[in-house]
This record gives sequence, structure tokens and C-alpha cells, in this order.
Amino acid sequence: MIGVGFGPSNLSLAVALEEHNGHNPNERISGFFVERQESFGWHRSMLLPSATMQIPFLKDVATLRNPASGYSFVSYLHASGRLASFINNQTFFPTRQEFHKYLEWVATQFTDQVSYGSEVIGLRLPADSGSAGTPQHLTVDVRRRGSGRVESVRARNVVISTGLVPRMPQGIQRDERVWHSSEFLMRFRETDPAGIKSVAVVGAGQSAAEITRFMYDTVPQAEVYAIVPSYGYALADDTPFANQVFDPGAVDDYYFGTDRTRQAFWDYHRNTNYSVADDEVIRDLYRRSYDEDVRGGRRLHLLNLSRVTAAERDGDRTRINVTGGGVQEIVVDVCVFATGYHNMEVSRLLGELDRYCLRDETGRHRVGRDYRLVTTPELGCGIYLQGGTEHSHGLTSSLLSNIAVRSGEITESVISHRRVERELARALPVEPAGR
Ligand code: FDA
Ligand code: NAP
Repeated sequence: MIGVGFGPSNLSLAVALEEHNGHNPNERISGFFVERQESFGWHRSMLLPSATMQIPFLKDVATLRNPASGYSFVSYLHASGRLASFINNQTFFPTRQEFHKYLEWVATQFTDQVSYGSEVIGLRLPADSGSAGTPQHLTVDVRRRGSGRVESVRARNVVISTGLVPRMPQGIQRDERVWHSSEFLMRFRETDPAGIKSVAVVGAGQSAAEITRFMYDTVPQAEVYAIVPSYGYALADDTPFANQVFDPGAVDDYYFGTDRTRQAFWDYHRNTNYSVADDEVIRDLYRRSYDEDVRGGRRLHLLNLSRVTAAERDGDRTRINVTGGGVQEIVVDVCVFATGYHNMEVSRLLGELDRYCLRDETGRHRVGRDYRLVTTPELGCGIYLQGGTEHSHGLTSSLLSNIAVRSGEITESVISHRRVERELARALPVEPAGR
């Protein structure tokens, strides 16, 4: 099995394979992962100092599948000598920085199974597949960053987990002063904060709220414009009944539900995740705003009911068109677009293989409950998706909530396909010699 990308999803798969192989030495699956970053990193440019996790630590890479796993967050705390002090902290939600350290700790234990600094540029059928009946292997083309050398690897199964794709408003390009939130800290560290007299942060989601707070606190001389489409930041619903949409069982309810039930998930529960922010950061921002009222003088400006429609460079500064609210244009030194992400994209990687992959009536890939792309019978290999399955499996597709269980399900699926193929091979009559 080749895993494309080595973020938390495929890290969780590496753990699931390892634990499966440990318990089933006769049914081993060998896994190898290709990651384009030079080392393990989970949204590094958003590791803001006070940002906390948006899921409880129990939804780590293993616990929901195997509560006794040695790769759990609790195991990490134990190995780091912080289990007791973490308990004293009395929280379900560690900082993103601590969770990052946990993920790195797990990743370090799989270093021999990962090629870092390598990018998968496409999948294709092996050159010799034309005459060999149903192709049972795929060729994965991997480009080494740095040297640019392309190597090809054979895989019986491929698990694509390349993550979300940053989304900019149409027509707006990034540059050294116009950033997307996904590159925020990297860009910020390249910039002299003393030169930032004004900054705009676009969006009303968790990324926007965190970046607005960070800029306000870290660049004390800057005017900070928060450009939000809503009347004010709206709260992410993390109350217990609503939170059940992230339970492993909700995947079945979504996958096997009717169009109407699937639509209800989005109509009623989109606000568990999208265009919403946590209570803590909203209150922090409001407190800063109120303190300004008390002190007199304002540098945190909330431009509400507003969307950005254009951004144009004007020397070192950027001219931003704002529509909907009272203000039409502002000029800032730095503009951060915390405007969200597109779902994981697979067509580009699939290339010529896409024609074997079936699509539903709205043109989206058909995906089995086991996260395997549904293909025509000519393709005998498995292509699995971790991400990009919101249309078929629901809200957890791009999140961490279900990665442990999903990785176990993918492992099971690979094993059961292998068993069926062996049974078939055994049942088929052996061709008589000489024919
Ligand atoms: P992820 O994007 O993490 O990893 C994909 C990996 O694939 C990357 O390392 C990338 O470099 C690599 N890659 C891409 N293309 C490649 C190619 N062609 N070849 C080789 N490698 C390639 N969710 C949640 O449930 N709780 C939370 O607290 C948060 N917090 C959070 C914070 C921030 C700032 C963001 C932007 C998102 C979250 N999320 C989240 C959602 C987020 O999608 C989730 O945390 C994981 O990153 C999903 O893990 P994946 O491994 O699927 O993707
Ligand atoms: P998001 O939730 O999709 O929010 C994007 C925001 O940008 C929305 O408010 C959207 O408004 C707005 N927007 C889009 N185009 C705009 C425009 N032209 N002008 C003004 N506003 C515009 O994205 P996100 O905040 O990056 O969150 C993505 C994921 O990352 C979520 O799962 C989130 O929970 C996660 N995250 C987690 C943490 C953490 O763990 N601490 C931190 C950051 C992010 P409309 O909806 O009206 O288009």
C-alpha cells in the first residue's frame, strides 16, 4: 500500500497497519508513505501560540479504534512525563502546539516507512498492463524535491490523503503582502512587524478569529481590520447532541441515508465546523474591543456584513474592495485571507485512471462505504480516499474526529479484498498444460 501524503490521516493509517500486522502476522500489509514536506508538519503556519484543538484529545490517531494503543495521546503524555500534570490541567482540548508535538512523536516511530521531501505527481497503469488482463497494480510517480528526479513505485493499493486546498476569493492572487491563512506564520516571520501599520483579516471562521487576535496582540502599533461577512463572529456549535455528527456511527447514517437526511446534516449542522469560531476566541476579541471603548481610541475595526471582492497592489500596500458594509475601500500593509479551503482534489492525481472511476449523477466520484473509489471491473487495484468524501461520508471527511476508525476500516477493506481474490484464484480451474 502506498499512502499519498503523510498528514494525520495517513499517520493514523500507518498506526492501524502496524497494529494489524502485529496481531495478524500471516496477513501482513506493507505500507509506505510519500510526503512532500521535508519533515512531518500539521498546518505549521497556523500553530498560533494560544490556539487550542477543536476536538478532544481522545480523538487522536488511534484511541477510537484501539483504546489500548501505544500510539495514543495518553501514551505520548506518559512517554513525555507529563501525564499527571496534563490531568491537573483539566482540559479535553490541548493546544495545537502540544498536539503537533504528539503527532510528531508518533510520526518519528514510522520514519522508515516515509519518504519526506517527495511529491506524488500522478498515478497510472503500469506500462505492461495492456496485455496482462485486469491490472492488479498501479504505478505511482514520485518526484524528489530538490533533485527533481522522478521515480516510479508499484502499488497494489493507494490511499490518497493530500488534505484541504486553500481557497482565495475569485480573481485575488496571493503575493508577499497578500496571504492565505494556510501560510500565515511562515509569511509573518518573513515580514518585519515594525513595518506593519495596518492589516486586514478577511473571513469569520476560526482561522480569521485566531489571526485577528494574534495580529492585534503581536503588532501593537497596527490598525487591525476584521472584514466579516456576518453581523459578528458566530459560535461553533460543540454542544453534545450536535457533536454526535462527528461520531463514527454518523458516517453510516450519512452514507446510507436518503438525500433528505444527508441534506439535514448540512442544513442543521454546518455550523459545527464552517464559518464559525470557538467561544473562547470570540470572547477574547470582544473583550479587546470593549477595553478600547473604555480606554478611548480604536485600532480593532470590525467591518461587518462585508465581503472582499478585489485586492490590488499599490506599491508596498494593498487596496482592498469591500462590498456590503459601510466601507468601500481600505488600504493596508498586509491582507490575510482566512477564506477557507476547497475539499481534497483527486482528479489531477488520478489522471488517465479517472476514466475507470465511476461518478454519481451530479458528477462526483462514487466512493464505497470502505472509502474505496468505485471503479469499472477493468481496474483490479484499490484506490482509497482519506478526505474529499463529504458528499458520500459527511462532515468528518476532512476532520480528525474519525481518522482512527476510518484507518481501521480501510485496513479491513484491503484485507477482505485480498481474501476474496485468493478465494477466487483457488476456485478458478487451473488451465491444462500445453494449451
Ligand atoms: P493534511 O492536510 O493534514 O495532510 C495532507 C498531507 O499531504 C500534507 O502533509 C501535505 O504536505 C501532503 N501532500 C499533499 N499533496 C501531496 C502530494 N501530491 N504528494 C505527497 N504529499 C502530499 N480538524 C479537527 O478535527 N480538529 C482540529 O482541531 C482541527 N484543526 C485544524 C486547524 C487548522 C489550522 C486547519 C487548517 C484545519 C484543522 N482541522 C482540524 C482540519 C484538518 O483538515 C485536519 O486537522 C487534518 O489536517 C486532516 O489531516 P489529513 O492528513 O487528511 O490532511
Ligand atoms: P472557514 O470556516 O471555511 O471560514 C472561511 C470564512 O471566510 C467564512 O466566514 C467565509 O464566509 C469567509 N469568506 C469567504 N470568502 C470571503 C470574502 N470574499 N470576503 C469575506 N469573507 C469571506 O475556514 P477556516 O476558518 O480556515 O476553517 C477551516 C477549518 O479549519 C475548520 O475545520 C476549522 O475548524 C479548522 N481550524 C481549526 C483551528 C484550530 O484547531 N484551532 C484553527 C483554524 C481553523 P462565508 O461562509 O459567508 O463564505
